[in-house]
Amino acid sequence: MAFLHQFFQKKHLKKSVDMTKLPRHIAIVMDGNGRWAKRYGMPRQAGHAAGSETFRRTAIACKELGIEYLTVYAFSTENWKRPQQEVSAIMDLLRQYLAEAIEKMSSDRVRLAFFGDLSGLSDDIVELIVRAEEASSHFEGLQVNICINYGGRDEILHAAAQLARSCMDGRMTPEEISEEAFSSSLYSAGVPDPDLIIRPSGEYRVSNFLLWQSAYSEYYFTDVLWPDFDKQELIHAIRAFQGRSRRFGGI
Ligand code: FPP
Repeated sequence: MAFLHQFFQKKHLKKSVDMTKLPRHIAIVMDGNGRWAKRYGMPRQAGHAAGSETFRRTAIACKELGIEYLTVYAFSTENWKRPQQEVSAIMDLLRQYLAEAIEKMSSDRVRLAFFGDLSGLSDDIVELIVRAEEASSHFEGLQVNICINYGGRDEILHAAAQLARSCMDGRMTPEEISEEAFSSSLYSAGVPDPDLIIRPSGEYRVSNFLLWQSAYSEYYFTDVLWPDFDKQELIHAIRAFQGRSRRFGGI
């Protein structure tokens, strides 16, 4: 009975979305893990572990819906300021996810990409990232971008330095620095800008996330803490997006 109920609930949810007007790219600030853990009297690490499960479920939901790109903020350039124990716990969750993703790659068939300054990560994580990116690069359908040691300002500086080097080497002139050339120098090169950015946990901040790419993104805020975010919440966010009138500066 529970199975039948779930089946019809799923069908109903999917029907409430206009499948012809889906956002191509959804980005999420996975916020609220610490408060969720505190609410249940658990250490912050338990909140990140629960958040990691929510990420897995959200990726599956995006794939089922036909979303092309999902980008998640897993670890910022500022998150190193957190206690060592918490940083290690997040890195362990990444290791665990990467190892599992590599193992289940042929059944999941999700393309994986990583945005951020990977030089700041430990060698074993970088090795897993390279393996995961290479082994999944031919999959079509959903691409999941995981932002690690990522900062929007850091990304812009990195792109500016790359373009400056190209000009100094004579490979391009300053006049050739267009929006397209700049976008192609970002960690997200080749990925369309996010249509919808979701921030759970009742915070209304950008927090250095996709600063260049979010120029015309639609934001969706919810009080739900990230570990409690589910498919129903995702559908609410998509429906809210579908109700917006996007003008990109026009009328
Ligand atoms: C923000 O919540 C969350 C983080 C800084 C870490 C997010 C990491 C994961 C969900 C796990 C690893 C990710 C993957 C992709 C496997 P917060 O701790 O700032 O929450 P708070 O504001 O309630 O304290």
